[in-house]
This record gives sequence, structure tokens and C-alpha cells, in this order.
Amino acid sequence: MSVIKEYINKNKDRFINELIELLKIPSISADSAYKDDMSTMANAIKSSLEQAGCDIVEICKTEGYPIVYGEKIIDPNLPTVLVYGHYDVQPPDPLDLWDSAPFEPIIKKTATHPDGAIFARGACDDKGQLYMHVKALEFMTNSNTLPCNVKFMIEGEEEVGSANLATFVQNNREKLANDVILISDTGMIANDVPSITTGLRGLSYVEVEVTGPNRDLHSGLYGGAVANPINILTKMIASLHDENNHITIPGFYDRVEELSTDERAQMAKAPFSLDTYKEALDIDAVYGEKDYTTNERNSIRPTLDVNGIWGGYIGEGAKTVIASKAFAKISMRLVPNQDWEEITQLFKSHFEAIAPAGVRVKVTPHHGGQGYVTPINSIGYQAAAKAYTATFGKEPIPQRSGGSIPIVSLFEENLKSKTILMGFGLDSDAIHSPNEHFGVWNYLKGVETIPYFYEYFTELSK
Ligand code: BES
Ligand code: MN
Ligand code: MN
Repeated sequence: MSVIKEYINKNKDRFINELIELLKIPSISADSAYKDDMSTMANAIKSSLEQAGCDIVEICKTEGYPIVYGEKIIDPNLPTVLVYGHYDVQPPDPLDLWDSAPFEPIIKKTATHPDGAIFARGACDDKGQLYMHVKALEFMTNSNTLPCNVKFMIEGEEEVGSANLATFVQNNREKLANDVILISDTGMIANDVPSITTGLRGLSYVEVEVTGPNRDLHSGLYGGAVANPINILTKMIASLHDENNHITIPGFYDRVEELSTDERAQMAKAPFSLDTYKEALDIDAVYGEKDYTTNERNSIRPTLDVNGIWGGYIGEGAKTVIASKAFAKISMRLVPNQDWEEITQLFKSHFEAIAPAGVRVKVTPHHGGQGYVTPINSIGYQAAAKAYTATFGKEPIPQRSGGSIPIVSLFEENLKSKTILMGFGLDSDAIHSPNEHFGVWNYLKGVETIPYFYEYFTELSK
């Protein structure tokens, strides 16, 4: 048995228990009520990095939540790997849809995870995945096998747009200098189909407000005679897609990168069962842009989705009312070459232009970021592919993901290095949803695979 496998076997209960302790801390960045838990969490990450062998660990204050920085520099002439992760999590609501409390982790077996999965908010996104790197470092420190330098940068604002991390990166280029950035905050196709994420979508997130009359009105006395903001808002939203599910905002597709027939054929080789997909979601049909497959729709094509919509009376029973205002939160997932600020502007101009007389429209941009694609011929990708091959016994498939980690393109711009996305989660792990979980097998497989990455990356860098 390999040394790392032996180490994991001996320590796996501790690895699991340590992660469970971290998962008990409700580090919800979106809700200021959890401010104290955010510092508890940052401190816990700091101690874990010290315990794993970092020589320097700092809690770097920002205008928002702090960034935990750690490093172990063994020789300035050797390559440096910068690990990024986030210790904040999404709010857990709706709470009543959880089978167990989101911050009281439990291990349960599932069909996909016969060895058990840890159920808790943040189990997969991203505490479990970032902690794999901490345990991998602990192994390399204790076995004296760390072949290069390592830096950690763990932030607490990923789920709310990473605004302060951007400033931190811009101001600390020297400190963060590296040869490759390593992130585990994505997924893979299946436990027996390893894959490496080669692309992330960009994002533009906006909120819209439609205002009609200056007060809520009796829907009998005024109904039919004034614009109803909810009727208008839903009509405006419906008009943002045409009958082929193309987005109707002028200029929206202008910069979209079209893949060649050959690239699309390569993509189509990834194993995928439409029946299993539909069954897992309890839907009788998939839906989306004409002339694209499901896997294309959720990775290489841009989207526009309402994430929340509200207004008027939603309490018990019925109230006859025409609300003065209606609201929606809308996300647009973007693909390479689309610029998120330009798209936000195009959305705003279009949405204001289609508002009929009788209402006023306000568009407020929230946050966003550029998409990312990474080539598979880089040393980093090659090292990752070799590492997966060593531990999964088969070569990983490159795959573009539909999710976003907006900060990645900013890393490349400021630090001039490639990011390798070694994700060990599964789409079915329910990140951002009730009952989020992370397979124990996946967690330990991550710890096992990461040290190989360091070894091969150092070797290939020579
Ligand atoms: N880890 C996710 C992104 C992700 C998950 C990418 C799975 C690929 C596969 C990250 O924490 C996340 O949730 N990102 C947000 C964007 C952010 C600005 C809130 C997203 O994709 O919605
Ligand atoms: Mn994440
Ligand atoms: Mn997330």
C-alpha cells in the first residue's frame, strides 16, 4: 500500500471528526448575524494550518471578513503552489427542507455514497474540499515528502462576491507569487468517472424593481385601469427568452465563444445519461436553448435565470390588492469572452427600454465576474491528470463546469498563473441546497490525490 493510503487509513476517523467540528460553525457570510461565527471560523482555519505544518499563518483583516493566509516555504528555488478555498457558506434556508440540522453534521449512507456522506451546510462547498488540502499538507509535513513550497489563501466572502479578496490580491502580488493555483471547489462527473474542471462560467447578478402606483391599491377599485407591477414584471421577464430559448437582450451573444464541431464532439464523449438526469430531478423533460445538448446548455452556453421574485400579498388566505412594487433577482451565467460589466449594462439598458408607460424600472447590479477556461497542455493540468490517474486508476476527463468562481480570472490577471480546478464533489451533493453533503470516500480520495499533484507538478516543472 502507498504511504499516503496507509496514513489515511490510520487517521481517517480523526480527519472526519476534525471536519465535523468545522462544519458545526455557521460561517454564513451573507447574514451579518453570524459575524462572530465568521471570526471563530477564520481562527479555526488558522489553527488547522499551523497544525498541518505551515510556518507562517496570518489572519489578514479586510473591510469585510478576514482572509487566512499561510505558507510553508522550503526552498525559494522550488516551485510554489497557491491553494485557494473559502470558509464561508451559503445560508441554509429553507430550514424545513433539511432532514437534519445544517450545522449539526451527521454521516449517512446514500445510494451514491455507500461509504457514507457527511451532511451539513458547507460539507462540499467548500469546507470539506478545502480541508482535504490541509490534511494533504499535514501528511506531506509528517512524512517529510513536501516537494515544493505551498501557500494557502482561504477567504470568507466567496459566496457573496469576493469583493475584498480582489483588493487583497491586487495589493499582495509579491506575497502571493506562485507557479500554479490549486482549487478544490468544483465537482467531478462520478466516483468512477474522474474529471478535471477546465472552465467556469462568468456571472452577472442583478436585482430589478418595478414600481407602479404610489401605494398598494384595491384590486377591484383600480384593477384593469392601472399597470400592475407584478403583471408587468412577469411579462418583461418572460420576454427575455424567445421561442427557441435564446436570450433576447440585443448584443448579448455578440462575444460568445462558439465551439467548433470537433470541440463539441469531444465534449459529447463524456458519459451522460439523460434518463438518470431526469430521474434524479423528477422531471419528465429537459428544457433549454434549441440545438444544444443538456451538457452544452449547462456549460458552454450563457443563461438568464430568475433566482427570486416577490411582491404583493403572499400571506395566508387572500387579499385583494395591486401592489405598488414588484421585485426579482436575476442571474446571467456567462461564457468565455463575454464581459460581465458589459452584459450588466446591456441588461440594464434593455430592461429599462422594454418597460411600458405606467411603471418605473430600477436595475441594481449586485456582483459578477468573468468566466474562465484553462488549457489542458499546461504543466499544472498535466500534473493533475497524472495525479488522478495514480489514485483513480484511470485518466480524468476534462470538463467545463456551469458554476462560477469569479475570482479565478482575477487571479490569472494579477498573479499571472494558471488555476487548476481539482474538484471532488458530485453535482448530486446538493451544494447551496437543503441536505448538502460530501462523500467520505470523495473526501479521503481528495486527500490521497493532492500529494501526487505536488509531486508531479514539481517534477514536470524541472
Ligand atoms: N463552489 C461554487 C462554484 C462551483 C460549484 C463551480 C460547482 C463549479 C462546480 C462557488 O462557491 C459558488 O457557489 N459560486 C457562485 C458564485 C458566487 C459569486 C456566489 C455560483 O456559482 O453561483
Ligand atoms: Mn464554493
Ligand atoms: Mn458556493
